[in-house]
Amino acid sequence: MNPQESELQAKIRQQFDVVTYPRIPVEKSPKDDYEFLYIHNFVTPYYLRNQKVINTEGKVILDAGCGSGYKALILAEANPGSKIVGIDISEKSVELARQRLQYHGFDNAEFHVFPIEELSSLGLEFDYINCDEVLYLLPDIVMGLQAMKSVLKPDGIIRTNLHSSLQRHNYFKVQEIFQMMGLMNENPGEMEMEIARETIAALKDSIILKQQIWKPERAKYEEWMLSNYLLLGDKGFTIPEVFAALKNADLEFISMVNWRHWEIMDLFKNEDDLPAFLGMSLPDISVEERLHLFELLQPIHRLLDFWCGHPQQGQSFVPISEWTNSDWQKAKVQLHPQLRNSQAREDLISCINNHKPFEISIYVKLPTLKPIHIGSSIAVCILPLWDDVCTIESLVERWVKIRPLDPITLESVTQEKAWDEIKELLDTLDPFLYMLLEPYL
Ligand SMILES: C[S@@+](CC[C@H](N)C(=O)[O-])C[C@H]1O[C@@H](n2cnc3c(N)ncnc32)[C@H](O)[C@@H]1O
Repeated sequence: MNPQESELQAKIRQQFDVVTYPRIPVEKSPKDDYEFLYIHNFVTPYYLRNQKVINTEGKVILDAGCGSGYKALILAEANPGSKIVGIDISEKSVELARQRLQYHGFDNAEFHVFPIEELSSLGLEFDYINCDEVLYLLPDIVMGLQAMKSVLKPDGIIRTNLHSSLQRHNYFKVQEIFQMMGLMNENPGEMEMEIARETIAALKDSIILKQQIWKPERAKYEEWMLSNYLLLGDKGFTIPEVFAALKNADLEFISMVNWRHWEIMDLFKNEDDLPAFLGMSLPDISVEERLHLFELLQPIHRLLDFWCGHPQQGQSFVPISEWTNSDWQKAKVQLHPQLRNSQAREDLISCINNHKPFEISIYVKLPTLKPIHIGSSIAVCILPLWDDVCTIESLVERWVKIRPLDPITLESVTQEKAWDEIKELLDTLDPFLYMLLEPYL
């Protein structure tokens, strides 16, 4: 790090010592925040990459730049039996994170005042690394990625993110203005925040920049001011820059964290009737090009939030949509751990008793665009999944018992038909990872 970069890091440390992030009370538990737990559960990216369910028992998880430890707490809740290690350059943040995990009874956790750049000297290796809202603050993101890679186990996975320069360009403009005004020369304090508020408030309401970034209610909070108008070291990136950084760090892109919200086809009125040029070329473009096209057409994501890992460490598998009958017969299924909660089970039983469809997507909305319902009679088949992993064959047997007769013809339902109906159900749920399927033979 050159002297200028070291000076900036010292300022960033000071900024987060004064206003630790996030400002969530220590007592708050994320137990019912299934969505957050789903993202932070190692099972999610591991299944996406390998179509295998990993047991989190004994895994070692790093929260790199853990701040005040709320995400570290989520990681601990979401990954039972794992050891959690948190590092951050801000001593105040580390103290709070340690206190938070202790308060919630997680003894298998340790926290260190330590910079990401020096991770290799920590003497630990990790199965999963979470680096949320930090990488864009580092002077060199490739160095940051390389530092994380150096402590990642061979089949380990990193989740990290960068600010989008396309989505956030107005905040970068306003930061530049405040830099010109000298408000970011030193660590911005109460006086600098007030000057920043007054400056934007004084603009005519017709000024485009003001229309886009003036949020008087939020601007009252110092955390918001320091994370947006006056965030030291903040930088924006595009998808090609992310892929270039991954290439330079010799890491392989796995998936966007909210992958279903980056689907280029969703941007067209009718995906089955695209202009001829697009219809012919879109199927052949690379993942990077698809994502870049998406951010150019629809820059709605503040974060370019993704999972990556060592190159060529993903296990090859046959996608479920291409499974043969024999694959289905030799497969088992389980619920995503974050759906296996008592609230969802109670709701399912209530839907079955009241003959109402079960809306499985309400607990974890992230991977869906519209609600997903399961009919109340076939929903009876999935009830055992709240207790255990099941073979698909056992679900089919259960389905035949529940509905032995075809309701239209009153003839006995054939095994083949029962299999088709269960396959169709699981095929619909698998892309959202609500159900996790894998071979057991
Ligand atoms: C915006 S906060 C994010 C905290 C936490 N990851 C979260 O998402 O809730 C950024 C954190 O990164 C830490 N940080 C910045 N540069 C760092 C570095 N080089 N090494 C370790 N931590 C760093 C800051 O001290 C701060 O606590």
